Amino acid sequence: MKQQAKSRATAAAHPNLALVKYWGQTDAALNLPTNDSISLNLSGATTTTTVTFDAALAADAVFLNGEACDPVTCARVSAHLERVRALAGLERRARVDSYNDFPAGAGVASSASAFAALSLAATRAAGLELDTRALSVLARKGSGSACRSIPGGFVEWVAAETDAASYARQLAPPAHWALRVLTVTFPGQPKAVSSLEGHRAAPTSPFFGARLVAVEGTLATVRRALRERDFAALGCAVEREALSLHALALTSRVAEQPWLSGIIYWQPETVALLRAVQAWRREGIPVYFSLDAGPSVHLLCEAETRPAVERVLAPAVEAWRGAYFVSEPGRGAWLVG
Ligand code: DP6
Repeated sequence: MKQQAKSRATAAAHPNLALVKYWGQTDAALNLPTNDSISLNLSGATTTTTVTFDAALAADAVFLNGEACDPVTCARVSAHLERVRALAGLERRARVDSYNDFPAGAGVASSASAFAALSLAATRAAGLELDTRALSVLARKGSGSACRSIPGGFVEWVAAETDAASYARQLAPPAHWALRVLTVTFPGQPKAVSSLEGHRAAPTSPFFGARLVAVEGTLATVRRALRERDFAALGCAVEREALSLHALALTSRVAEQPWLSGIIYWQPETVALLRAVQAWRREGIPVYFSLDAGPSVHLLCEAETRPAVERVLAPAVEAWRGAYFVSEPGRGAWLVG
């Protein structure tokens, strides 16, 4: 069959917040994780990506928010397009235009929404129609956490030992539970250690094995708490889980940066907010925190307590010159137009 000279598709996806984290890999090339993880999609932030396969192009061209992207990101995107070309039996190079509606450098990991939207847009532009599972497997190879942005709502990523068996599936749709996530970002330096380096460094922590044992209990608690909408049980487990990721980071050695005794992802404002959340709880506000590999903090509450949380959060964030946005459990990756 003769291929068209040009074919185009646009897709969008939300980033996701891991309630139980992915930290450490059994296969770095395939992004196979050491443990299952559970997340919810964040409706308050979106990446929208258009992929155009074009016979007139000599090389892939990647633009982020209207600007040509740096060579490292460009190579990572091109490697992902190569996976799609191999699946579709396609030769043509592509132009990729990707936009985030949240500011770059705001401390919100965009690789999950980026590779989820890219996977859907590129496969459709290549004439493929993958089911949710196959799309999740593909997105995972671009960025591990991206596989969790393919299905909607509350999602579990199965660790598994083989490429085809490690994908994310929906545990419950977005409407299952009216949770709210307030994502707080602070101005500051870009982080010194990427999550790629962090994953590689994780097994050097003496606590790595202990976390792998403990995480099984955390997964069981979080699955049950989600099923039964038990907010206090969910919040406690999520908060301790986030701290356990940082316990590993703090005690990991980064091969590429031997001068680091451990990875400190926090800024002073991060720690101040964590302590404030604990104090607000003592005062009776049911709110919990989570953190990823960076200084931003995600606050978790139920919809009806959001006003009480914002009343104490807004002045604190203003004093730190930070910003925040609010999410509900979001949908999975979708086609635009
Ligand atoms: C701390 O998915 O960004 O956010 O697979 O190398 O792209 P790559 O890593 P990435 O790691 C995410 C780590 C985390 C925890 C999580 O989202 O589960």
